[in-house]
Amino acid sequence: MDLLGAIAILRRRWLVVVLCLIMGIAGGFDLGHRGTKQYRATAECLVNIPPSQSVQTQVLGTQLAGSLVQTYVGLINSKIVLSRASALLADRGVSVGAQGLSAKAVTNTYLIDVSATSTTPVLAQLTANAGAKALGSTVAKLQSGVPQKITVQTTSPAALPGAPVSPRPRLDLLVGLILGLLAGLGMAALLEALDRTIKSTAQADAVLGRPLVGLVPKRRAGPLVVDLTTNSPDAEPYRSARTAIRFLDPDRPLRSILVTSPSPGDGKTVTAANLAAAFALSGDHVIAIDADLRKPRLAQTFGLESAVGLTNLVLGNTDVTDALQEWGPRLSVLATGPLPPNPSEILGSQLFGQLLKDVSRRADITVIDAPPVLPVDDALSLAAQVDGVILVVRAGTTMRHSAAEAVRRLETVGANVLGYVLNAVPRSDLRGMYADYVYGSERTAEIPILTGPSRPQNGKAPSTLRRSPRTTPRADSQRASTEVTTSRTKT
Ligand SMILES: Nc1ncnc2c1ncn2[C@@H]1O[C@H](COP(=O)(O)OP(=O)(O)OP(=O)(O)O)[C@@H](O)[C@H]1O
Ligand SMILES: [Mg+2]
Repeated sequence: MDLLGAIAILRRRWLVVVLCLIMGIAGGFDLGHRGTKQYRATAECLVNIPPSQSVQTQVLGTQLAGSLVQTYVGLINSKIVLSRASALLADRGVSVGAQGLSAKAVTNTYLIDVSATSTTPVLAQLTANAGAKALGSTVAKLQSGVPQKITVQTTSPAALPGAPVSPRPRLDLLVGLILGLLAGLGMAALLEALDRTIKSTAQADAVLGRPLVGLVPKRRAGPLVVDLTTNSPDAEPYRSARTAIRFLDPDRPLRSILVTSPSPGDGKTVTAANLAAAFALSGDHVIAIDADLRKPRLAQTFGLESAVGLTNLVLGNTDVTDALQEWGPRLSVLATGPLPPNPSEILGSQLFGQLLKDVSRRADITVIDAPPVLPVDDALSLAAQVDGVILVVRAGTTMRHSAAEAVRRLETVGANVLGYVLNAVPRSDLRGMYADYVYGSERTAEIPILTGPSRPQNGKAPSTLRRSPRTTPRADSQRASTEVTTSRTKT
């Protein structure tokens, strides 16, 4: 994983990192202020043998002393040493227990550190010195009668300890902080590993095997159909997506695009509406069709009514001109009309296919909002009848296996899956994926015809919005080409 990927994970999982950090600090703080203070003093003893005239005896004695160091260390908590140490401190009324004394051999020397832990510095110092002395006298007693005695002598008496060895508030706090941070990072990595949703373009590329055509940030507020004439970060992704779609297959201009997604709520309708508006803004005559006969929302998204539309055309009780509602000079919307009980059959019928062709002929490009691929077959019926399919995946929501399955099902009906839109990407994640896509792209002049979602009165399109004369298809292809070049070269 690269640095940007790691930063993106941290941005996503910062809460768990902060929570673990707070818990670690709180634990360290608690530990640092819990229990009575303990002081430790250490006296140093040397295991030695008296000088001998014979070199051989000297060498043997030295080796013996070395091997005996560990034995004397073990003696420190023996009854005899403890009772001798207690006897030395009898005038202070102190009895030395096994918990109070400890000994440790200093590596590669004949030195033994005798340590005592106590609740006061003075007592710790006295106990350590008494322990060292008691060890020496015990060793001497054990060798009574031996001519060449090995002795244990105090070489450095214990000093009065300053700071307590426990609790240690600063150290405990530091350890708590470090452990909390490590736990937080570990949790973040674990959650990331367990998360099977698509969160980045890299994951989507791998799962879908199709090019990215749009990276749409998560919006907090504002109209569903954004004002595409502005240079706002909400508008730019849809204009870029439009341009990217237009150049996906320059040899075969797309006349009809189906917008669908693996699951409900991924953002198909909002994406379809804004894409349609973006195509109209660039000079195309666009028809947006609401083909979601189960949950019709497209007309509503444009602020129009759904009462008359697609199903009236199928039934033949209205004609295309009457069924189309104008949203702007170059954008007409075909709502669903009354909802049928059998959407799949209707959308898959030959009659519907012919109707789609008739409607599409009236526009440069037709954008169709469809139901999701996985729960129902409607999108598959539609996908086989259009020039291309744009798959919307919602960042952090769409599961990887769902996206892969959606592509697989679309492929089985021979659909031309053009690319995908990664929708509702948290802005904090965008920088790591495609920074300048949203933030740095140069503003290019748009044809200022659409002025955003004009709210209709009583569901009707405002009277000021008239059907505009047909414009030359792809009149802005030259300009769009400039736009895509400038925005891509900046990334
Ligand atoms: N980029 C975005 N940022 C924030 N919210 C979004 C974004 N895109 C869509 N939404 C919100 O997500 C919700 C679902 O969007 P939309 O209706 O477009 O999804 P859908 O895929 O068409 O759903 P359905 O499957 O029900 O038809 C809506 O509340 C919409 O406002
Ligand atoms: Mg929808």
